[in-house]
Amino acid sequence: MLNRVKIAPSLLSADAGRLADEVAAVTAAGADMIHLDVMDGTFVPNITFGVDVLRAVRQATSLPIEVHLMVQAPERFLAQFAQAGATTLTIHYEATPHVQRALATIRTLGLGAGLALNPSSPPLLVEDLLPDLDLLLVMTVNPGFGGQRFIETMLPKVARARRLLDAAGSQAELEVDGGIGPVQAGALVRAGATILVAGSSIFGADDLRRAITDLRAAARQGQ
Ligand code: DX5
Ligand code: ZN
Repeated sequence: MLNRVKIAPSLLSADAGRLADEVAAVTAAGADMIHLDVMDGTFVPNITFGVDVLRAVRQATSLPIEVHLMVQAPERFLAQFAQAGATTLTIHYEATPHVQRALATIRTLGLGAGLALNPSSPPLLVEDLLPDLDLLLVMTVNPGFGGQRFIETMLPKVARARRLLDAAGSQAELEVDGGIGPVQAGALVRAGATILVAGSSIFGADDLRRAITDLRAAARQGQ
């Protein structure tokens, strides 16, 4: 049987004044994991959550939490986010010259090691890092903001990333993030994605449960 595709709501589009309630709601509605977007105002032109928010989210759910670090030189903060309850830490290839060392540090901290690629970074960049990866994140928008439009040329890129992982025998998750809703889900899963991150298409919906169910149903069409 095929592994089930995982749905990861991004809290960027949640109501920040009721964050714990929003986390509890997507947990009850069948989310597989929580996606927390950390932005530093330097790597991306926006500032969001820090370690204290992760600690609060950790209290609000028993689901795995992926922290997506859109932060320059993320190695400065890995231990803090690990201590605050992250399950997986995803850093950006473009954010440090010492990617392999940062990934190894994440595993040493006992967490899953994720690596994200901006839209302009080709999958081949990670070829020599595959043994160090538990998750490869192909950004399908330029990071920094929720609610952006899905970049269509990222679809063949996801397929190329899938071939790269399979050729190396990698079991790493292949995650996609940005502009994703039911319209994109089937094709992304068909291209080889195993985790769909969705912010505005879930938290912008009137009914969270329905939004997650619809996304899951669309993803299943691609399996
Ligand atoms: C973008 C973030 C995404 C974002 C997704 O920089 O990494 O996780 O919140 O939001 P939507 O699904 O609205 O594009
Ligand atoms: Zn993200």
